[in-house]
Amino acid sequence: MGKISNLRCPKCGHEPASKTEFQCPRCRSILEANVAIAHLSRADFQAMRQSRDHTIWRWFDFFPVEERSCIVSLGEGCTPLIHARRLGDSIGIAKLYLKNDTVLPSGSLKDRSNSVGLSKAKELGFTTATVMSTGNAAASVAAYSAAAGIESVVMVPAGTAPSKIIQARAYGASVVVIDGNFDKEVAQLYKAAVKEFGWYDCLSSNPYRDEGKKSYAYELVDQLDQQIPDWLIHPTAGGTGIYAAWKGFKELLSLGWIDGAPKLVASQSAAAAPIVAAFKKGLADIVPVIARETVAESIQVGNPASLGWRALAALRESQGSAVAVSDEEILEAQFLIGSRAGIFAEPAAATSVAAAIKLRKSEMIGRDEVVVCNLTGHGLKQPEAIQLSKLELAPIAPTLDALKERVKSIAESFTA
Ligand SMILES: Cc1ncc(COP(=O)(O)O)c(C=O)c1O
Repeated sequence: MGKISNLRCPKCGHEPASKTEFQCPRCRSILEANVAIAHLSRADFQAMRQSRDHTIWRWFDFFPVEERSCIVSLGEGCTPLIHARRLGDSIGIAKLYLKNDTVLPSGSLKDRSNSVGLSKAKELGFTTATVMSTGNAAASVAAYSAAAGIESVVMVPAGTAPSKIIQARAYGASVVVIDGNFDKEVAQLYKAAVKEFGWYDCLSSNPYRDEGKKSYAYELVDQLDQQIPDWLIHPTAGGTGIYAAWKGFKELLSLGWIDGAPKLVASQSAAAAPIVAAFKKGLADIVPVIARETVAESIQVGNPASLGWRALAALRESQGSAVAVSDEEILEAQFLIGSRAGIFAEPAAATSVAAAIKLRKSEMIGRDEVVVCNLTGHGLKQPEAIQLSKLELAPIAPTLDALKERVKSIAESFTA
């Protein structure tokens, strides 16, 4: 049987005929892509697991892309799942696993979604893709557009540091600086441009794009050889990662290929934690907050308006939780991930380990439970988060004594 996909409103159930409108014409909710998977068998799963295709596309049947010839891939997915023994020992979680998405082609989890999103753009015949972003999404959309042969336009607010947009520019995107605030004027112009010019919208409101992050579920089940982790902790901004991972697990459950699913945890910076706040208050939807500055820049989102409710539902259905962590806790976790697991994660990504530490301390996570922390972005995305001390930068005399003394004082400063 061939693969059928449609767009459906998760709130009112309406199924519009258009494949290119992303909002429900009746209730304005963001539509959801659905893929027919009921015909898939266990043998299909084994074949997918054994595929020589080491990208998310080994799970092709789960994605809303019909034509294999339209796949736009840069080798994303099947990222290492590392049993981080040293780090686990130091935080009291013996079976701590790190899902290392820092090695994705553009350096962040966004490649899981944009590989699917831009493949769909190609299939639908779009010639220009756009996104408003100052960070990981901009770089990823630009990279996949370049690979697809699609023009990309990235909109950023005036005052954005060049370092934030250099990666997108390197992939050939047209980066347009707009005089205005990101959430107001830039957002308004973005919406108007999508409508006026018919550009392909690559924000998280794109239902095709979000399906790519379902691959977390398939990969974890594969890599843990069908053992189900007790906990899966995911750095969260808009909530698409949490929601999509949960959807992936539910698909596998519905097919009878697994018999349980992890408890999902959304980790957020305390400076921008609307999902945590809504979860703790038992609300069905989020109440937007003004995001304060945080070292976890990539997830500094105060208003995940359109999709926050789906993430909340996923957290509850999975009997999971939501945890806010301070900048201090995030930087401490970033240091531990680097120095005890050998992975340089950006601060946003380190929130997952910071949350694991917190949940372990409160004994919500047990010592012998299997815990997976997603590391969603590379530390080189935001190198300035690592503050070198004056001591480290000051040159020493080229003598063995001075070298010995300096190594000792640096080691002392780390343990201080
Ligand atoms: C590094 C990083 N981690 C996690 C996320 C989480 O995003 P979401 O909650 O939308 O899946 C983002 C999104 O901006 C990100 O850049």
